[in-house]
Amino acid sequence: MGTNRFTTIAKFQPGVPFVEAYGLLLVSLVLGQNGNPVSVVAITSANEGAGTTTTALNLGMMVARTGRKSLIVDANLRKPDMHTAFGFDQAPGIAEVLSGQKQAAEVVRPTNITNLAVLAAGKAAVPPQALLTPQRLAPLVTDLRGRFEFIVIDTPPVLRFPDTLNLARIADGMVLVVPADGGSRRAQVEARRRLERVDAKILGAVLNKVSAREAAALSS
Ligand SMILES: Nc1ncnc2c1ncn2[C@@H]1O[C@H](COP(=O)(O)OP(=O)(O)O)[C@@H](O)[C@H]1O
Ligand SMILES: [Mg+2]
Repeated sequence: MGTNRFTTIAKFQPGVPFVEAYGLLLVSLVLGQNGNPVSVVAITSANEGAGTTTTALNLGMMVARTGRKSLIVDANLRKPDMHTAFGFDQAPGIAEVLSGQKQAAEVVRPTNITNLAVLAAGKAAVPPQALLTPQRLAPLVTDLRGRFEFIVIDTPPVLRFPDTLNLARIADGMVLVVPADGGSRRAQVEARRRLERVDAKILGAVLNKVSAREAAALSS
């Protein structure tokens, strides 16, 4: 991974709170679902800047460390970011697959992290909500489920775009990223309500951007 603005678990030793937080997320929210195995998880937030991409990136890396063949999908066609974390080009990606120009196998890229591949956002020639429909997504996700053991999907903010509500239908579960440093409670409640209305399975929330001081107070 080149230099970019994302903080990742690759930069720290195991045991550092930042790293263990993602281990905890993986075990408590994702792997710990009794009897209902979760292998496709969508990460989202109410508004932009909460840390959705950071969470998707680190969760994907954490799952890859457990030995599972993993894929991170950038389904945020509004503000594609995952490719920058890996120093990849934005296109081709999921947009080209959903519009029928490419096959998934042609555009999934291996990373320099063992067991981790990335499907970048690509470039949509039409409005994203025209591509991110359940009809287009279902065959793609079925295909990807056959190739990967675990899939993490980065998505746009729920309160700004309809895209994530369609993604919720094809994911086994969703994780809502809540910024500790801002964002109103009303926004979180509304985001949750919209997801529940499409029968999304909300696995839980990640409280992100917690200061080291607050984190220490929480765990003491
Ligand atoms: N847990 C975190 N630790 C450090 N920086 C973070 C964390 N979460 C987010 N950030 C920073 O906050 C900014 C927004 O995060 P990002 O993941 O891009 O949010 P979103 O995808 O929800 O818009 C980025 O600059 C990112 O590096
Ligand atoms: Mg993002």
